Amino acid sequence: MPIKAVRGVRDILPAESPRWQRVEAAGRSVFEAYGYREIRLPLFERTELFARGIGEATDIVQKEMYTFEDRSGDSVTLRPEATASLLRAYIEHGFQVQPKPVRLYTMGPMFRYERPQAGRYRQFHQADVEALGETHPAVDAEVIAMLMDFFGALGLADRLELHVNSIGDAGTRPAYRARLLDYFAPRSGELCPECRGRLDRNPLRVLDCKTPGCQPVIEKAPSILDSLTAEAAEHFERVRACLDAMGIAYTVTPRLVRGLDYYVRTTFEVLTTELGAQNAVAGGGRYDGLIEQLGGPPDPGIGFAIGLERVVLLLGDEASAAAPVAVLIPLGDAALSRLLGIAREARRRGARVELGYGTRKLQRELERTNRLGAGFAVIVGDDELARGQALLREMKSGAQRGVPLEGLADELVGLAARPGAAR
Ligand code: HAM
Repeated sequence: MPIKAVRGVRDILPAESPRWQRVEAAGRSVFEAYGYREIRLPLFERTELFARGIGEATDIVQKEMYTFEDRSGDSVTLRPEATASLLRAYIEHGFQVQPKPVRLYTMGPMFRYERPQAGRYRQFHQADVEALGETHPAVDAEVIAMLMDFFGALGLADRLELHVNSIGDAGTRPAYRARLLDYFAPRSGELCPECRGRLDRNPLRVLDCKTPGCQPVIEKAPSILDSLTAEAAEHFERVRACLDAMGIAYTVTPRLVRGLDYYVRTTFEVLTTELGAQNAVAGGGRYDGLIEQLGGPPDPGIGFAIGLERVVLLLGDEASAAAPVAVLIPLGDAALSRLLGIAREARRRGARVELGYGTRKLQRELERTNRLGAGFAVIVGDDELARGQALLREMKSGAQRGVPLEGLADELVGLAARPGAAR
């Protein structure tokens, strides 16, 4: 039996890679235009970092972490998200002395032991962005604007909804939690078993439940917006005013509480109706207090993470890998020797060409050229070699003409530069 990939872990195959590259490039260019710089973080950390950072009571820490002891008996965990790691690095490298806000982004795989389904994996990728050291509400709005600009750059903005909320200051949450418990406790019989468990651990998470049976109870639950302190309410007002000033459309969704414990004040999510249950494409919020809780300075912060698999899914089957502009077909060793150098020169100058090795019949090579989607075949047999010529065949029309071997690399580079060079 051949060995297969672990459940919930997938290969990104070459046909998909161009879409990934496009998504990553859009992220880099949008984030860098806003002044964010890349930081590359380790894939695993001390378990304690996530327990302290994300919250002991969260689903992530309780049920979803890949945690193991290394050979020296230390408990380490594959990162389930990037924020805690990024803040650990911020503290460890003394970033707080830099001009604020310190703007950082990172991209890469995350690991959560969740039940796999379409759009949900055990190894998945995020683009994660954090703005550290500034509480001004305009930072919240700019971070959200940048997220929407990322989707705009990919032509996805019209297919997504932005939801924003405020979950108040650290002081708001215990009071709201108590209000929620008062409301839910007498109605726990109407909730799903999962939600009954959440009532003990983190009643805010009940608001997030998607089970249809829970909805009537959840809909009438007290709104967190009614529990905000004056400061938190004002901060939210100002965030909204900045979003309005930029013409960014959003819905205020008081049920948007998010699954990580570190959030205060602004939270937001970008949702799609196109991916079934896995409707969140990105999420984030403010986490003032977290850096201090991790042993650092009292710097505030706000950020988000984009689920890259979900973005790639939304892009669908758009044009995949560029085909080679030409396949060079030597008919024998002498022609191969000549074409090896020509192919190398054309490639060095940026033209995508493939080379046969002179071992297959011409007919087979032409079939292969067609399957690769190349625009041209370049055929060189002993006769052509003797005349210092190659035969350039346009695959679509079958038209052929001679090209001097001397100028063949130039010709290939010229063809590659033509729009729609490959079919
Ligand atoms: P999160 O909401 O847990 O937030 O994850 C962000 C995004 O990652 C989700 O909206 C989703 O698109 C994607 N995602 C999460 N789990 C999976 C999965 N199992 N498979 C595929 N995609 C997934 C955070 O991680 C926070 N650290 C975001 C943040 C940054 N907040 C402040 N700064």
